Amino acid sequence: MRIGILTGGGDCPGLNAVIRAVVRHSVKNFGSEVVGFLEGWRGPMENMVMPLTLRSTEAILNRGGTILRTSRTNPFKFDRGPERIIENMERNSIDALIAVGGEDTCGVANRLHKEYGLKVVCVPKTIDNDLNATDFTFGFDTAVNIVAEAIDRLHTTAEAHNRVLVCEVMGRQAGWIACYGGIAGGADFILVPEKPVVINQVVEAIKKCHARGRDYSIVVVAEGVKIDGENEEVREEDKDDFGHTKIGGIGDKLAKILEEKTGYETRATTLGHVQRGGSPTAFDRVLATRFGVHAAELAHERKFGRMVSLQGSEVKDVPVEDAVDQLKTLDLNLYKVAEVFFG
Ligand code: F6P
Repeated sequence: MRIGILTGGGDCPGLNAVIRAVVRHSVKNFGSEVVGFLEGWRGPMENMVMPLTLRSTEAILNRGGTILRTSRTNPFKFDRGPERIIENMERNSIDALIAVGGEDTCGVANRLHKEYGLKVVCVPKTIDNDLNATDFTFGFDTAVNIVAEAIDRLHTTAEAHNRVLVCEVMGRQAGWIACYGGIAGGADFILVPEKPVVINQVVEAIKKCHARGRDYSIVVVAEGVKIDGENEEVREEDKDDFGHTKIGGIGDKLAKILEEKTGYETRATTLGHVQRGGSPTAFDRVLATRFGVHAAELAHERKFGRMVSLQGSEVKDVPVEDAVDQLKTLDLNLYKVAEVFFG
């Protein structure tokens, strides 16, 4: 067979591990060829292709980013986008395409499969861990470890200066990174998009810490958190192909409010893309490898329209539509565990 593979959406540690696994399994064990489509859905739409061999995918297991590069291209926003993809599958004699991505990339794959018969298998990725129908996505563990380490570092400065330090982490609609990272880093309060913000609760928690003689505290906030139900107007030209806008800045806003209300010096640190960069953790390398191997098997068994998925400790597969109809928001039982340590 000739297998195509692409990586779409925000990059994520572990993408190269999936590519390597797909190539190794397909070439060595099925005698297939693999080609990479560059820059997400732009690749198959514009026919941007590169061969992938055992040699060219060596020594990439531990590399962050993606050797295929990525983009947030939505072919449904382009003239004859879906049709061009189908034509380029034929031009390159592709028997099966493996799309590695989050909700947007998998959403496109689902539509192309249903409406245009694209022979596609999906692999879920996102540092946000907000994709449905899988317990975890690779990249999340790496991001959480980066957040935990950053909070450890913030602790020492907070303590040395008697400061409140606010740490803004990624998580547009889901608070998985904030909650896991915050628990791992020993945060004194965690704000997530799933819970309405009550500033007085944060202020009380900080005051409690200080009242028992600890003159510093750490607050973690997910980038998607809104204060006072604010709903900023978004201009159409600021939206990407999938209708998303650039967000960020809640950490600074929150720090200002907390300083005013508590009287303690408060600063904010935004971790931003640091959370998506660098080498994947061993957990993510293993998960991405298992996903890649399973996806290659699905492709060779011609089980199209499926997405690989972690269920408990087992890698299985589900219809891709199950993953894209709604987001997997934070398990509020986990938030209850975090709350034990507030204040
Ligand atoms: O979906 C992953 C993610 O890292 C989100 O947490 C974040 O809001 C978004 O991507 C940022 O995307 P970009 O790098 O395109 O600005």
